[in-house]
Amino acid sequence: MVQIFLDTANLDAIRKYNDMGILDGVTTNPTLLAKENGNPIEIMKEIIRTVKGPVSLEVVSTTLDGMLEEARRLARFGPNAVVKIPMLPDGLKAIRRLAGEGIKTNCTLVFSPNQALLAAKAGATYVSPFIGRLDDAGHDGMQVIRDTVQIFRNYSFSTKVLVASVRHPVHVVEAARTGADVITMPPDVLEKMIKHPLTDKGLSIFLDDWEKVKRINPNINLAQP
Ligand code: E4P
Repeated sequence: MVQIFLDTANLDAIRKYNDMGILDGVTTNPTLLAKENGNPIEIMKEIIRTVKGPVSLEVVSTTLDGMLEEARRLARFGPNAVVKIPMLPDGLKAIRRLAGEGIKTNCTLVFSPNQALLAAKAGATYVSPFIGRLDDAGHDGMQVIRDTVQIFRNYSFSTKVLVASVRHPVHVVEAARTGADVITMPPDVLEKMIKHPLTDKGLSIFLDDWEKVKRINPNINLAQP
């Protein structure tokens, strides 16, 4: 089944959708953490405690030793921690080493099927192609997802395709049609998926009509016999 992750470090939003039972996980990054007030380490730990599913936490070092050191620390935040490693030559080395240590990784800043293929070969748990940023640059972001899903299927890679940089609900529908494993989206996109003007209009008509029923049957109460 396709998994829905929330792409945010905002705990109120995470709690809101977590309580609806529709969240399979969370992805964060330094930019998302910079939007929140408070200590980023404590925020990451609290997200890990709040959400049952995988939570991606990103390293900020770009050297092999630095990435490994940060990744091991982030992985200790909880059993559901997944470490985001940028798509760099040393990032691939780090992913390989961390896979050997049993630490789950999410290869981030992926913009081509070839980068995704290499991340999978290195042993990444997830690869994150950024479709919105590709679209912004005049490329077809969704084609990278289609190609990556096909390549991983051809060779039975266990690495999961995580569709990132999602900008609107149509991205979600198209991503789900490709058979991608995970779609991570900002809270506003998830909210738009829930809402539909015809749902609101239909509900208002039903409630008005029920008022008519109550005028004829004043003692009627659905909650009580
Ligand atoms: C993925 O995990 C990233 O956090 C995110 O999807 C990037 O999206 P943006 O292009 O909206 O910053």
